[in-house]
Amino acid sequence: MRIGFIGLGLMGSRMATNLLRRAGYDLVVYNRTRAKAEPVLDLGAIWADSPAQLARQVDLIFTMLAHPEAVKQMALGEEGFLDALPPGAIWADCSTVNPSFSREMASQARERGIRFLDSPVAGTVGPATEGKLLFLVGGGPEDVETCRPLLEVMGRKIVHVGGHGQGTGLKMVFNLLLGEAMLAFSEALVLGRALGLSRDTLLDLLLGSAVVAPFLNGKRQRMVEEEYAAEFPLKWMRKDLHLASLTGYEEGIALPAVNVAKEVFALAAGDGLGDEDFSAIYQFMADKAGLDQSQAKASYGRDE
Ligand SMILES: NC(=O)c1ccc[n+]([C@@H]2O[C@H](COP(=O)([O-])OP(=O)(O)OC[C@H]3O[C@@H](n4cnc5c(N)ncnc54)[C@H](OP(=O)(O)O)[C@@H]3O)[C@@H](O)[C@H]2O)c1
Repeated sequence: MRIGFIGLGLMGSRMATNLLRRAGYDLVVYNRTRAKAEPVLDLGAIWADSPAQLARQVDLIFTMLAHPEAVKQMALGEEGFLDALPPGAIWADCSTVNPSFSREMASQARERGIRFLDSPVAGTVGPATEGKLLFLVGGGPEDVETCRPLLEVMGRKIVHVGGHGQGTGLKMVFNLLLGEAMLAFSEALVLGRALGLSRDTLLDLLLGSAVVAPFLNGKRQRMVEEEYAAEFPLKWMRKDLHLASLTGYEEGIALPAVNVAKEVFALAAGDGLGDEDFSAIYQFMADKAGLDQSQAKASYGRDE
């Protein structure tokens, strides 16, 4: 089976590398910025000059793209892949997009005799590198089984959630929790520090306690060192909260906290933090509160 991979960013480059290294599949790749494909080309992947050219050479295509607009551009734009795939081929979209968009892509694929799966992932660059992602898959059971061996090369667990849009629906639920928890924790730290509590005392006592989400432990170093190298870029968290808000509107339900969080992430992105890790929302909140980070370090020194 020949496989195509489109979208070689932080996540896609690692997933494609696993398909090449661990399973030895023939892999044809395309990325809007060719330079990012060089590492996988060095490992033996074949470059295609356009999504359509890629599609003419493969039976199964993975996409791992930034947002719905990028997916639509690659699938249905000029030289898009959807019209060029052979009938019966499978398209598994691993991008984090909204469920109604996944259903729209499933319908566009069906019209062309292409089978579609929404297969977003939980887990960031570490699990992507190690092939330990969690895949949340929506689509037909037979199509899931066809893709399962490949998903298992990139992931530790494959969950078939339900029909089209159910995979991206569950992913949206995950990221709502992730975004709101990061913001709530940041706000709590800012309040504690405004009250004169040292940042490190707060981190020592709160992290690992029952009141905070376990993933926050992994963000400690970034917050202490004020270095926010992106695992999951803040601009994509903003995008996911926007898509959750949009989905709430489509479903006729109110998601008030999502909309507040979305706007805080928008302000942080506007302040130039979009390419930093989404935990930089703590820095943004501390700055807005007028808390001097160097004082936090000094107060930590006194505590010792
Ligand atoms: N990073 C994480 O921890 C993580 C975890 C789970 C899920 N996700 C999701 O996975 C997806 C990819 O995330 P990432 O972290 O790998 O992001 P990334 O490093 O920014 O990569 C984004 C990819 O989308 C492409 N792209 C962006 N706009 C495009 C456009 N208009 N047309 C064509 N291609 C376009 C980029 O191409 P260029 O190289 O040309 O820019 C790149 O290949 C996102 O949906 C994200 O929400 C990320």
